[in-house]
Amino acid sequence: MSNPGKYYLTTPIYYVNARPHIGHAYTTIVADVIARRKRALGFDTWFLTGTDEHGQKIERSARQAGIAPQEFTDRVAAEFKGLWDRMGLSYDDFIRTTEPRHKRAVQKFFALLKDSGYIYKGTYTGQYCVFDELYVDAPPGSPCPDCGRTTETVSEENYFFKLSAFERKLLEFYDANPDFVRPETRRNEVISFVRSGLKDLSVSRTSFKWGIPVPGDEKHVIYVWLDALANYITALGWGSEDPKEQERFKKFWPADLHIIGKEISRFHCVYWPAFLMAAGLPLPKSIVAHGWLLFEESKMSKSRGNIVRAETILEVLGADALRYFLLREIVFGQDGGFSFDALVQRYNSDLANGYGNLASRTLAMVQRYFEGTIPDAAPCEAGLCKETAAYIANFGKECDSLNFSRALETLWSFIGAVDGFLTSRAPWKARTDISDREQQQYRADVLYTAAEALRIITALVYPIIPDAAAKVWAQLGLGDIKQADLKNIEWGGLKPGTRLGELSPVFPRAEKDAITHMQEIEQKNNAPKPEEQPSVAPAPAESKGAEAAAGQVATHAQTNEKISIDDFMKVELRVAQIKVAERVPKADKLLRLEVDLGYEQRQILAGIAEAYEPESLIGRKVVIVANLAPRKLRGLESNGMIVAASLGEKGRPVLAGFLEDVEVGARLK
Ligand code: MSP
Repeated sequence: MSNPGKYYLTTPIYYVNARPHIGHAYTTIVADVIARRKRALGFDTWFLTGTDEHGQKIERSARQAGIAPQEFTDRVAAEFKGLWDRMGLSYDDFIRTTEPRHKRAVQKFFALLKDSGYIYKGTYTGQYCVFDELYVDAPPGSPCPDCGRTTETVSEENYFFKLSAFERKLLEFYDANPDFVRPETRRNEVISFVRSGLKDLSVSRTSFKWGIPVPGDEKHVIYVWLDALANYITALGWGSEDPKEQERFKKFWPADLHIIGKEISRFHCVYWPAFLMAAGLPLPKSIVAHGWLLFEESKMSKSRGNIVRAETILEVLGADALRYFLLREIVFGQDGGFSFDALVQRYNSDLANGYGNLASRTLAMVQRYFEGTIPDAAPCEAGLCKETAAYIANFGKECDSLNFSRALETLWSFIGAVDGFLTSRAPWKARTDISDREQQQYRADVLYTAAEALRIITALVYPIIPDAAAKVWAQLGLGDIKQADLKNIEWGGLKPGTRLGELSPVFPRAEKDAITHMQEIEQKNNAPKPEEQPSVAPAPAESKGAEAAAGQVATHAQTNEKISIDDFMKVELRVAQIKVAERVPKADKLLRLEVDLGYEQRQILAGIAEAYEPESLIGRKVVIVANLAPRKLRGLESNGMIVAASLGEKGRPVLAGFLEDVEVGARLK
């Protein structure tokens, strides 16, 4: 078969402001599945992942952690890379945007855009969302359209990219390339965003330092998204002087597939192609956006406090269990829920009882009746062997359209068919209607068919559950699975006379306490789920109220239950200054506050409207619990809780404060 060519695919590069969770793992696992399948099909594949390490958000997180940004990013990037390695993800390159190879090339890229007349200097005054590193076209105080956090007003002399010049070209491009953005919903969103008019984009910042300096004007740092998107070419060697690197760029660019989460479509499908057009470089062939992994009904994210770590699942069920679950349970492109219950259920029904059981019963019978050697069978004439080609074709078609869930459904119906075949033929039963020799031939035909089907299933499923597939492959006596050649899977590849390897179960049934075990690990790892956290910001009418919430701290002392210093340190108390205070319509007890923490500004809803006039609070320094999971009250997000004493029977709130002047952001400990 002729060489199918090259295939270059990427994941987004992950922000290092927080440790990885299974939302990040999801994208990387999907990319790994595609990369493994492409390699097995003979494509010369390059799979890139990495970390996004610049920008104000990272700078602030480092400050909060009390360490220098480089040290901070080194630590978190090592966690991402370490986890990807532990999960056996087969990336070819891991780029960090703080690496010199990236910085040099980004400066070249910026200079190229500037020299081509697409970057000019001007002044930007407007709103900026630090969390999403996004310029927002809206009045001061407006929330970010993506995450809902309050935007900050910035006024800076900046460099601008002439995005407006690409409106028509982009629309023409989308029109000519219907598969450029997938799925359809994202494509429509992107097109309507561009149709509504593109403004020039600010591509430098001067208010902080943690970024790549603009070449020749070093008080500016390059906008973090321009810096980050360029990783897809800098990692290949664009802009490098090294001929080997240049060669790699020539070979692999343009990308065949950028895999992203849906929330970053605009950056990838509008800004990135515009930058590339301006630089005169070819555009990626396709960008596919998947949905969100939800946990307890909202997007899994550190700021919401509802994360699950991949390590927990690896420890109890193994990496294959997580891979299989994510690809089978979530319809690619749509949001999907994660739960430990569903994970264990899938594991037991599909992996332990399905594939695992088929492998062990088939191989055990070959062992028993043929002393561990694949028997010689009559040539395939009808039945299962003839149906296999359709299963292979369907599985391949669904995989290549990224319908992983359906692909696995198809493959598992094949598993079901082989299982049913074994049960109905019952090769273990002694037959009285035929001679011993005929009985042995009958067994040989049945078991060869089951073992050959198992080989084909194993080769197909390898990209999804590589560890288990590698084990079954070796048990079938076929050695190293990397040599499995997906191009040539067809009936009859298993040679009679092949000696089985050593047999052992691949997916033992999950222990009864697997769910609680994983939940306990999560708790130990300090990832409390929302219902375990104290109630957020006080709205007496709707929840326990400021008084009650503040009272929770006292409750521990009252019950004589002692907590350790580590427990106390989990509560992040900080000094904040109230910048905005106003009543919330139709909520008598509720005030909407915007507080400044020095490193960020956020909105908190507090049930103190009966005790304080909003105007009297402006400028006041208060104590807040800074690490509470956000929560919505009356449709507004509350990000933290104000600490107050609770007086009298009615629990009148009195805000905690200081006699000396204190710096905003200072931690109480
Ligand atoms: N640094 C940018 C991307 C720059 S790419 C040039 C960024 N980083 S991120 O860490 O916030 O998110 C990166 C990706 O992680 C998301 O696009 C998505 O693929 C994945 N996910 C993070 N949380 C997720 C879920 N809860 N669910 C599914 N994927 C999630 O944005």
